[in-house]
Amino acid sequence: MKISESIKYVGVNDRDIDLFEGQYVVPNGMAYNSYVVFDEKIAVMDTVDAAFGEEWLANLDSVLGGRKPDYLIVQHMEPDHSANIDVFAKRYPEAVIVSSDLAFGMMKKFFGTDYAERRISVKDGDSLSLGERTLHFVTAPMVHWPEVIMTYDSKDKVLFSADGFGKFGATDADEDWACEARRYYFGIVGKYGMQTQSLLKKAASLEINTICPLHGPVLSENLGYYIDLYNTWSSYGVESEGVVIAYTSVYGNTKKAVELLEKELKANGCPKVAVNDLARCDMAEAVEDAFRYGKIVLATTTYNSDVFPFMRNFIHELTERGYKNRKIGIIENGTWSPTAAKVIKKMLDGSKNIEFADTTVTIHSALNDTTVEQIKALAKELC
Ligand code: FEO
Repeated sequence: MKISESIKYVGVNDRDIDLFEGQYVVPNGMAYNSYVVFDEKIAVMDTVDAAFGEEWLANLDSVLGGRKPDYLIVQHMEPDHSANIDVFAKRYPEAVIVSSDLAFGMMKKFFGTDYAERRISVKDGDSLSLGERTLHFVTAPMVHWPEVIMTYDSKDKVLFSADGFGKFGATDADEDWACEARRYYFGIVGKYGMQTQSLLKKAASLEINTICPLHGPVLSENLGYYIDLYNTWSSYGVESEGVVIAYTSVYGNTKKAVELLEKELKANGCPKVAVNDLARCDMAEAVEDAFRYGKIVLATTTYNSDVFPFMRNFIHELTERGYKNRKIGIIENGTWSPTAAKVIKKMLDGSKNIEFADTTVTIHSALNDTTVEQIKALAKELC
């Protein structure tokens, strides 16, 4: 794959992976991207996951045409990109490793060496000339580890964006970009909205024609669309109008309440109702929805004077990512002493700009005339 006359793709697609980062299902696989920038000097941008070292080196060979790389630019030390640094360093003993101080510290931990005799340590604003082109380095701490740098090629106007603008799925996956990029962003980077906003501010001063992330496709058209989405996501804004219902149900009674609410929301003209059964859905999908829409209903049983474990886990997933700026409705269920609503509100105590709906639905075991009316009132309030 050619990015420009001077930039070639040498990444790999992982179709064997079961869980990315040990927790995310990736039905369409995962791409570990790597690029080679050709000029008087040659720079390789990052390596790939440990399992794909040989394939990556073969890709490198096929584009290098017998030349030797002068630099390995290490933008991110998470092993899905860094695992082959030492393999590269041994194969090309004259190549210089270019990265941040923090990354060299991590190399010492991963490989037992920080390549002190063959490295260039770069800071925000530093640059490296390859000949006709210059690479400019931009620090991007916590997008998504602290050592991350991104790299801007000012000749071809290409931003190598590390994990930023990445997505789940192999590069040839036939799927909507936003869906899997959103799940990736909120799963992996979502806690660091403020840091992503800082990065977008730095990027705004650059003229960018192409974004080369470390996962997913190279982006070269309609870049405003992707940047606007990143701006919405990282500022915890509302991307789509609609309501998410996230629920747990043990014997189906809470589920019946959810089904009624869904019907009432639609009857009241709600443009989209997304329903997630937290015990059965992909939790990352439910988290993604919670950040996508501006309104959410949490429906759950009381359990051990607390909330049902899947709901507790879900709310924790939200709060640890800085969940805010949302309207929340609650449906609680409990046969003898429902306490779920109280527990949910306490769990969201530290979340900013949260508005709870006036109507809290309290079901004592199964729906009755009173709770049906409460659900109708909640639907009206949320529409
Ligand atoms: Fe794709 Fe944070 O590693």
